[in-house]
Amino acid sequence: MATKVLLEKLNEAIAREIQVSIQYMWQHIMIKGINSQSVGPIFRQIALAEMLHAEMIAERLEYLGGEPTTQPTPIAIGKKAKDMLKLNKKSEEDAIALYKKIIKIAEKEDDYTTKKLFEQILSEEEDHHNTFSMLLED
Ligand SMILES: [Fe+2]
Ligand SMILES: [Fe+2]
Repeated sequence: MATKVLLEKLNEAIAREIQVSIQYMWQHIMIKGINSQSVGPIFRQIALAEMLHAEMIAERLEYLGGEPTTQPTPIAIGKKAKDMLKLNKKSEEDAIALYKKIIKIAEKEDDYTTKKLFEQILSEEEDHHNTFSMLLED
């Protein structure tokens, strides 16, 4: 069975996924100005992807005998489009670092299903990171 360390890390991942799904969706709602038509829909699309991540990780955690958290890590919306993008780029960097750790822990515990799940999610977080980074360029 999964160790306490892995279960805690999965809940940390869920808390972050809930955070960014709300963060990006609220940014989609609150973004103003010249970028709102172009960037807003991207925020919305990624917000929905993050909620699916929360679902997949919660399903896995539940299967492993844990109880999925309902508490997000702190949400930061930002005012201007550029601030929002910077916050989101950092959130994706944090997710990438955490998910690399989880992949290593899962491998050590011979939990190949969790490892595979996080490899798949990791590649999507790298896509998000790339999208936000590109939008920040002049
Ligand atoms: Fe995610
Ligand atoms: Fe992401």
